[in-house]
Amino acid sequence: MHTWIIEGGSPLRGEVKVSGAKNSITKLMVMSMLTSEPCLFENAPRIGDSLITQEICEALGARFSEPGDHVLHIETPEIIRSDVPQELGTRNRLAIMMLAPLLHRTGEAIIPVAAGGDRIGPRPVDFHLEGYRKMGAHVEIRGDAYHVTCDRLIGAEIELPFPSVTTTENLLLAATLAKGRTFIRNAAIEPEIMDMMMCLQKMGAIIDYSADRTLVIEGVESLSGTTHTLMPDRIVAASLACAAVATRGDVFVSGARQADMITFLNTLRRVGGKFEVQDDGIRFYYGGPLNSIALETHVHPGFMTDWQPPFVLLLTQANGMSVVHETVFESRFGYVDELIKMGADIALYDTCLGGRKCRFRFSNYRHSCVIKGPVQLHGAEITVPDLRAGFTYLIAAILARGCSTIDGIEHIERGYEDLEGMLRSLGAQIRTAA
Ligand code: EPU
Repeated sequence: MHTWIIEGGSPLRGEVKVSGAKNSITKLMVMSMLTSEPCLFENAPRIGDSLITQEICEALGARFSEPGDHVLHIETPEIIRSDVPQELGTRNRLAIMMLAPLLHRTGEAIIPVAAGGDRIGPRPVDFHLEGYRKMGAHVEIRGDAYHVTCDRLIGAEIELPFPSVTTTENLLLAATLAKGRTFIRNAAIEPEIMDMMMCLQKMGAIIDYSADRTLVIEGVESLSGTTHTLMPDRIVAASLACAAVATRGDVFVSGARQADMITFLNTLRRVGGKFEVQDDGIRFYYGGPLNSIALETHVHPGFMTDWQPPFVLLLTQANGMSVVHETVFESRFGYVDELIKMGADIALYDTCLGGRKCRFRFSNYRHSCVIKGPVQLHGAEITVPDLRAGFTYLIAAILARGCSTIDGIEHIERGYEDLEGMLRSLGAQIRTAA
């Protein structure tokens, strides 16, 4: 365990550059394996999740090099095995996406059933497998792995029960090289998915989309290599925005892109957080007392579930009672108990508060919360359970009175590049525990 001791009380001030998106680079690595030609990714983030995905890709035959600063060259002349090794497959959630390159290039894929990643809900892969079945794959579970085979994937009509991000990406990869046309209805349309579609188009794919969440993919015979610049990480940018405003600071996030953050920026403005969009980034700053709000997470273009934990922390500093309803993941308030330990006044409910009725309304999942503010947080000893919760604890510790000890920093490093350097440069008082 990697532990930090943080002395609270310093507003974050300064300038940081946002990295390329975690939830893009890992998927683009897998995508590159659809072709034997080289792919070059610029603005590639150096984060833990990229390294884990790189190991999975390398185990299957991909070759990686870094010809320049934040430039990743990937080439997979040959797929050398059809099974994702158990140990690697359980370290993040990317193994299931290997179905596409493995089936297209070897006709067989063996994927560990147990997946890694944050425990923010049960996170099944039934939508993925059902999509592949519809495209003609034969899927069975043998022991602790999915065994999937097919001669050639064929175009199909697929309606997703929920606009799942990774399912949409996985089926996009499958459909680009399938025989005939595939319709993905009720697809996710996150900016990272649009970016993947643009990259696939450069590689030779034919993909149309319409405003009603339908993607239409015309299968092609092969894809070529490409060069692509990663989009900025809009979750990192929003986390830094919450950190700047909550600590009463002022941070310029160089590279942050307004187009990817419109809903976040509207919500920040509603609570009284200040921002200034510039050509090369966005400045976020505290400009006076914050207001409470009712907020609901949703798939794009809604308020992202990944923005929710740092925003809840921000709401502990707002005047009055705020309500947040989480509709994407069942268990995304697991981090709240530790914030309560630090003095936050937050209550969790299993009902749908403040918004529409969601998929979890008849469950016992505590997926709504009421936050009363403003409160003065105090330092505590905390163990990080997952990535976004982890960054939220860091902000809490930075604005708290006194000293906090935070264990499990490595979880946060999966998604935030040069975490320590970045926060120190903004004035955070961090010591690494011996
Ligand atoms: N779902 C199913 N069955 C499936 C797939 C999804 O029931 O086969 C459900 C999930 O359980 C969840 C909902 O559908 O309730 C949405 O899940 P989705 O598939 O969209 O999430 P994901 O693809 O597993 C990605 C990001 C998450 C981000 C979500 C939502 C990656 C690697 N992960 O997860 O990012 O929160 O989309 O935007 O892209 C993070 O970066 O910290 C993170 C957790």
